[in-house]
Amino acid sequence: MEYRFSKRIENLHPSAIREILKNSDPNVISLAAGNPAVESFPVKEMKEIADDIFDHEAGFAFQYGITEGYPRLRQLVMKRQKEKFGIGTENDDIMIISGGTQAMDLTTKVLANEGDTVLSEDPAFVGALNTFRSYRVNLVGIPMEDDGMNLEALEKALNEQKNVRFLYTIPSFHNPLGICTSLEKRKAIYDLCASHGVMILEDNPYGELRFDGEDIPTLKSMDTEGIVIYTSSFSKVMSAGIRLGFVIAPKPVLDKMAVGKQAVDTHSNLFFQILIADYMEKYDYDGHIQMICDLYRHKSGLMLDEIRKGFPKEVKYTVPQGGLFLWCTLPDGVDMLQFVQYAKKKGVAIVPGSAFNVDESAPSQCFRLNYSTPTDEKLVEGTRILGEALREFLVK
Ligand SMILES: Cc1ncc(COP(=O)(O)O)c(C=O)c1O
Repeated sequence: MEYRFSKRIENLHPSAIREILKNSDPNVISLAAGNPAVESFPVKEMKEIADDIFDHEAGFAFQYGITEGYPRLRQLVMKRQKEKFGIGTENDDIMIISGGTQAMDLTTKVLANEGDTVLSEDPAFVGALNTFRSYRVNLVGIPMEDDGMNLEALEKALNEQKNVRFLYTIPSFHNPLGICTSLEKRKAIYDLCASHGVMILEDNPYGELRFDGEDIPTLKSMDTEGIVIYTSSFSKVMSAGIRLGFVIAPKPVLDKMAVGKQAVDTHSNLFFQILIADYMEKYDYDGHIQMICDLYRHKSGLMLDEIRKGFPKEVKYTVPQGGLFLWCTLPDGVDMLQFVQYAKKKGVAIVPGSAFNVDESAPSQCFRLNYSTPTDEKLVEGTRILGEALREFLVK
């Protein structure tokens, strides 16, 4: 059989990170993943709740549910988002979705036609970029700086690109950069988009995972015009495998997203929606998140100590205040892709920065490091080996 595929899938490549993880050799230490630490899953408590659901609510939990999500969970999440992040007005509504990734899909599905423009931070989360690409939009990257997007480039794109439908941004603990967009830039980004009548997709899966410094207001908390679609996820605070997240958006947009969701998966996993609602109500959700923040402060500290001890001074790196990643930049003239291969031979897997580029063929001097997934021992050893590899490689 000669298989013929749609144009929308033909030009998509498998995620470089998923491929690295698939081929993982047990002798190679991976600093490439973006998985939450296994210690961050509240397994014992989830088992207690699960037993209770099996005993008392099985008929409801295993039945079809409502597309917008389990009402008790929607209320609990709305309340928390309002109190913690100032999110949600009477014009907004919430839908529970199958992981934050589904928000990228539904946003593009309801807002953009083929050929319309989507603006994205560059580099950015490759899962989101691939989703946008799958809709065959004109994907335009806005270069990133230490404190967020380059505003001149954003303004130029807003002025010059045709049919700009939305801007994708990860303002807090960016994947892959590990940085936060400053408050000044958040305000400027919001104002620029509002004045051009362009929607914003604010992706905030790591917002609760701040282990240093002060919270910065979300774009959604500034949203007087109803232009921000806000999404976050339970992946990094409860479990990634349960595939649950949420989107908060102006009601007319959310209604369309619900229709779009019905065409994909009807609704998200009801059993785990009930389980999370029970966890939020009956257990110490804040305490649990604090535990994860403490864990990642510790893990990022271990990695940074090794970096400071062993990386050559010419290698630049970001110092995260939350989230799961940091971003390293090699000096000009060094071949990053060759270095990634060299590090793999020495026993450490890292993700090449080009995997996160809007234009994957554009040159990159960077690579991403993750500190949440490896055990402490592997984290220290992997970063130490990487330092050694860098010192050897830069001499060559
Ligand atoms: C920036 C960003 N957004 C969204 C997601 C998607 O998370 P999920 O679909 O598991 O909720 C991730 C996952 O790594 C991410 O890094």
